[in-house]
Amino acid sequence: MPRTVAEREQPRATRVSRRRLLGGGAAAAGVAGAAGIGWGAATRTPREHDRDPGLETVPFHGPHQAGIDTEPPRSVAFVGFDLNPELDREDIIGLLKIWTDDAARLTQGKPALADTEPELAMRPARLTVTVGFGPELFTVAGLAALRPAWLKQLPSFPIDQLDPAYTGADLLLQICADEATTVSHAVRVLSKHVKSLVRVRWVQRGFRNAPRGQTMRNLMGQVDGTVNIAPGTADFDRLVWDDGGAQAWLAGGTSLVLRRIAMKLDTWDELDADGRATTLGRHDSTGAPLTGSTEFDDPDFTKVDRYGIPVIPPSSHIARAHHAHDHERFLRRGYNYDDAPAPGHVSNSGLLFVACQRDVDAQYLPVQARLAEFDALNQWTTPVGSAVFVIPPGVPAPGGYLGQQLFDSAARGR
Ligand code: HEM
Repeated sequence: MPRTVAEREQPRATRVSRRRLLGGGAAAAGVAGAAGIGWGAATRTPREHDRDPGLETVPFHGPHQAGIDTEPPRSVAFVGFDLNPELDREDIIGLLKIWTDDAARLTQGKPALADTEPELAMRPARLTVTVGFGPELFTVAGLAALRPAWLKQLPSFPIDQLDPAYTGADLLLQICADEATTVSHAVRVLSKHVKSLVRVRWVQRGFRNAPRGQTMRNLMGQVDGTVNIAPGTADFDRLVWDDGGAQAWLAGGTSLVLRRIAMKLDTWDELDADGRATTLGRHDSTGAPLTGSTEFDDPDFTKVDRYGIPVIPPSSHIARAHHAHDHERFLRRGYNYDDAPAPGHVSNSGLLFVACQRDVDAQYLPVQARLAEFDALNQWTTPVGSAVFVIPPGVPAPGGYLGQQLFDSAARGR
């Protein structure tokens, strides 16, 4: 639950009773869960809406990094870094300590140490900083034995046209906030403080807009994110957060697959509403499945019309993407992108598709492979970037640093 800077300064007991007084809490969150994914929007009362949203903060410390189960803020920057070749484990630990200190301050609306624009830190706007490790970091740190088995580049699919400029990286920063200025400031501070250790490989900026608690639309016009895993539920704990079973250090962490998927909006324009609906399996207008009337109606993939033809075409995106088994589910937390087109083109838009799951191989890959094999939507979408990261657990309390569980477990020889 986001908190304002002023609230943070109050003792915890005051905050809790104040929230109870305002009528939020678990019961209200449950109501939100019934309507949609339940990021917790219903816990906000009209009075809370009156406050300056630019002052809201998301706690930095905790068992998980923020930015996974946080209701997605409006703006994002994903920054991929490569480690300089001569680095060793101690350099990486040093970098992570710098990022921990910077993120702990900035996310709470305080300037970073030696912040050259401290005024820009004053509007945290639900800033979250999420750090991920790419496969090579484990090699550079001499920790290959502690790398999760699924942490590797995805196999290449026939639909892919990957641009190296958007593919792979040793380190990820996912920086989200409701205000783009806040995102830019955090990107700059965190990047320049470690510039002697890393090189920026890519920066991918994105946005999503929807009233709080409602599902966003992507740039094809579709309601995107309806079927998802609600934070705070047993499903989220089971499917998204790692339990330390395979790698003890990873308990409370997860994975993040980032796919940059370009949309061919010029030819998508040629499709009428019916063509668009049968491609997706849902109506663009309401987001309802072709077998229902409202967004959160369950699609009925077995329903046939009077000629015996399935109402939701088996080739449609949702029919192909729907999990065949419970373990094929994951959190989707993507953003739109809309960049400058190349000369002679009208648009350069798409989705920064993000999937988080405990195990990429077991949960994400079967779905991705099925879509690569066939998905009616593929005619208008092309993956042009791809990267996979492990998201280490959070920093439980001040004094710790991001990734400490990994490096401590290496020091203990496990
Ligand atoms: C530009 C590319 C894509 C677009 C525009 C897109 C759009 C959508 C939309 C509009 C929906 C229906 C609403 C919803 O439940 O969110 C949906 C559902 C879904 N998509 Fe995608 N998607 C894209 C790529 C992908 C990829 C790469 C994957 C996974 C590998 C994926 C997995 C899913 C899943 C699992 C669902 C829910 C299916 C269900 O159970 O009903 N999508 N997508």
